[in-house]
Amino acid sequence: MGNCNIKNEEAQKEAASRQLEFIEEARILVEKISKNIGRPLISHIETFGCQMNARDSEKLRGILDAAGFKDTENEDEADLVIYNTCTVRDNADQHVYGRLGHLNAVRKKRPDMIIGLCGCMMQEDHIVAKIKKSYPFVKLIFGTHNLYAFPELLVRTLNEDKRVIDIRQETKVFPESLPVKRKHFFKSGVNIMYGCNNFCSYCIVPYVRGREISRTPDEILDEVRRLVADGCVEIMLLGQNVNSYGKTLPEKMSFAELLREVCKIEGLRRLRFMTSHPKDLSDELIEVIAQNPVICHHMHLPVQSGSDIILTKMNRHYDRARYMEIVRKLREAIPDISFTTDIIVGFPGETEEDFEDTLSLVREVGFDSAFTFIYSKRRGTPAAEMENQVPEEIVKERFNRLLKEVKVTAEERCARFTGKVMDVLVEDVNREPGLVTGRIEHNIVVHLPGDASMIGKIVPVRLAECRGFYYFGEPVSD
Ligand code: 5AD
Ligand code: SF4
Repeated sequence: MGNCNIKNEEAQKEAASRQLEFIEEARILVEKISKNIGRPLISHIETFGCQMNARDSEKLRGILDAAGFKDTENEDEADLVIYNTCTVRDNADQHVYGRLGHLNAVRKKRPDMIIGLCGCMMQEDHIVAKIKKSYPFVKLIFGTHNLYAFPELLVRTLNEDKRVIDIRQETKVFPESLPVKRKHFFKSGVNIMYGCNNFCSYCIVPYVRGREISRTPDEILDEVRRLVADGCVEIMLLGQNVNSYGKTLPEKMSFAELLREVCKIEGLRRLRFMTSHPKDLSDELIEVIAQNPVICHHMHLPVQSGSDIILTKMNRHYDRARYMEIVRKLREAIPDISFTTDIIVGFPGETEEDFEDTLSLVREVGFDSAFTFIYSKRRGTPAAEMENQVPEEIVKERFNRLLKEVKVTAEERCARFTGKVMDVLVEDVNREPGLVTGRIEHNIVVHLPGDASMIGKIVPVRLAECRGFYYFGEPVSD
């Protein structure tokens, strides 16, 4: 490895040991406050948005636990509430504002409650300005780039009377030696890269998450090894565009090569990744998936639109034919593979014809499921300035038609495993007593009879009955 990485490693170690000292300082402070009030301090982290944020929240949780905070699901009883925000669509922003209104009412009865905000929304100047002005009770504000400095910010928040606001414009990689508390003991996300360089014309992510940086393979492999040794059977590699992994490394490495290395780790049973961009999906990647049984037969491949005109305006760098070619090649190499996607309805200038192209693409691919979104204008993105924004009623009508199409196609696809015996990773107990819920590698949900002792285990299950998007299964003894 070049010098650049050695320096990076040293800088990381130094940053980590500094933050570990702050955790210790926070722990002493928390202990003192707890003594004074005669009970432990309680905290709540609420996560909005994607898998990246979920993973970031696990890092925040790890730090809060190490500092001596207890965890609660009920934010109203917490002494410290942190919202890890998302800003990909406007309704995510509005949701946070609504929740802050509620928290303010709770805080009036409990004035010592500390409220903090972090995540993608905080990387937008106009939002921070609004919070400062209209939500003066928010005490701590930090962004996506300095998550690693949370211990230091926490100490300042507990010590100082004034607001603590720290937003950076450049990512410092999170030192992996800081504590992390996983939500699930049996599975985990692992960041392989941060940021995005694609600038899809509707998307705010490149502005709030910054430029793409890949972590080194050594760091990633070490983290996966540690997680597997600690009981993880499933790993999800995370990045905004995993298919361009490695391009920023001093010694280039492709995503397919990285997958090959991760697959060699003994004890790892399931490997997933998210998100793939069609423009960078290589034949080498298809080959690696086909050759390695550890890699799940599920591809989340956002298409966004079925119309070439719209795809060009979206700056996606592929057309419908190229997308269909990837689907065909993947199905040829991995016949049972499941496809899921993201679709945006009502992008500026979308005509009825463009929208019908999206509908026909949904039919043609046969997605196992699709996340469908109404286009949301994001300030500062090129699409926000485009003419011919589509009127709301038309978008809503198209959105409903798309939902119907997705439902019909997905139900047809989902039923294809009926009667088969497949491995299910049990993830949780079901709300219905006596049932547990898990997933097959294709990411389809299965409910089956069982109890909490099965959580984290991979069990063979007969997929007896398909009910739309999920199955009811019967465990079979092997
Ligand atoms: N409006 C609607 N949907 C969006 N997405 C990203 N930006 C927007 C936007 N401005 C969707 C895309 C992406 C997913 C994570 O969110 O479909 O794949
Ligand atoms: Fe946004 Fe496009 Fe980057 Fe995904 S690839 S985060 S949609 S800019």
